Amino acid sequence: MTAHNPSSQSLQLTGDGQLKHFLTLDGLSKTLLTDILDTADSFIEVGERTIKKVPLLRGKTVVNLFFESSTRTRSTFELAAKRLSADVLNLDISTSATSKGESLSDTLLNLEAMASDMFVVRHSQSGAPHFIAESVTPGVAIINAGDGRHAHPTQAMLDMLTIRQHKGRFDGLKVAIVGDILHSRVARSQIRALNALGAAEVRVIAPGTLLPADVESLGCRVEYDMARGMRDLDVVIMLRLQKERMEGALLPSEREFYRLYGLSQDKLALAKPDCIVMHPGPINRGVEIESAVADGPQSVILNQVTNGIAVRMAVMSMAMSGQVAERGRGQQGGDAA
Ligand code: NCD
Repeated sequence: MTAHNPSSQSLQLTGDGQLKHFLTLDGLSKTLLTDILDTADSFIEVGERTIKKVPLLRGKTVVNLFFESSTRTRSTFELAAKRLSADVLNLDISTSATSKGESLSDTLLNLEAMASDMFVVRHSQSGAPHFIAESVTPGVAIINAGDGRHAHPTQAMLDMLTIRQHKGRFDGLKVAIVGDILHSRVARSQIRALNALGAAEVRVIAPGTLLPADVESLGCRVEYDMARGMRDLDVVIMLRLQKERMEGALLPSEREFYRLYGLSQDKLALAKPDCIVMHPGPINRGVEIESAVADGPQSVILNQVTNGIAVRMAVMSMAMSGQVAERGRGQQGGDAA
């Protein structure tokens, strides 16, 4: 499995540039990302109705296939699919046949035989959703819900929606991502999205041991000192220390990490007064963020969670209509032949 397959773009877009899978933000245009945000905006109102449903995926079956643990992502994908009127199947991998040794390909063949229309996939292996998209039956859409350290495109898009709601624009914004960049698929997708949407500057603030070797080629500036890094910021995004992906000792101690890179009220005061504070969750209070900041007036962490539903509704409905359009074209081509 390869994380950076050059065919990502042709794999996830139809011939005329519509989304048909959502695997990575690599290669997606500003226009398409803006289209996702605008579509998500139109779904926010659905979440405020008494009857929170639209019929866009009526009669479709969405399978949530989570090979790694998740709270927010899995439940907001489920709510998003239900609000689009789809039938939803949540596969609990720990009690499924995967734990009896069934391969990923065999699990998928069985699920496809149940006439599923979309798989939402979270997997510890970078490239797993891409691999599935390459081999799945035509017409079935694959949505990446986080693969290894590679990408978490719906998380980045819900973050972009939250930034746009609070700042009204991307032009001129200075955004920092702080902490465990090395193990973060979220950071990789956020850097990509912020650059594509035209942010003025993306900074990463971290100790050298928590930065990937290729960090500058991702399109960001590196800052090792948090006090310097906080200057002029419009948005600060904190990350969790992803210990489950750490090999060996990368940190002296959590206490030392918090002293140097934790977001306290004092450090936040170094940013612009209207700087917003974000975090993809789950948060570890007192490790990467002080409670008074996480719960404070500049925090938009719970807005991010709410926006996750609208963004996932947007991506699922757009990918499904891309699949339908492509199948329609394929059938027309077949008739003509
Ligand atoms: C993130 C993930 O799983 O990559 N969480 C999420 O999806 N909300 C970040 C993390 O686990 O720290």
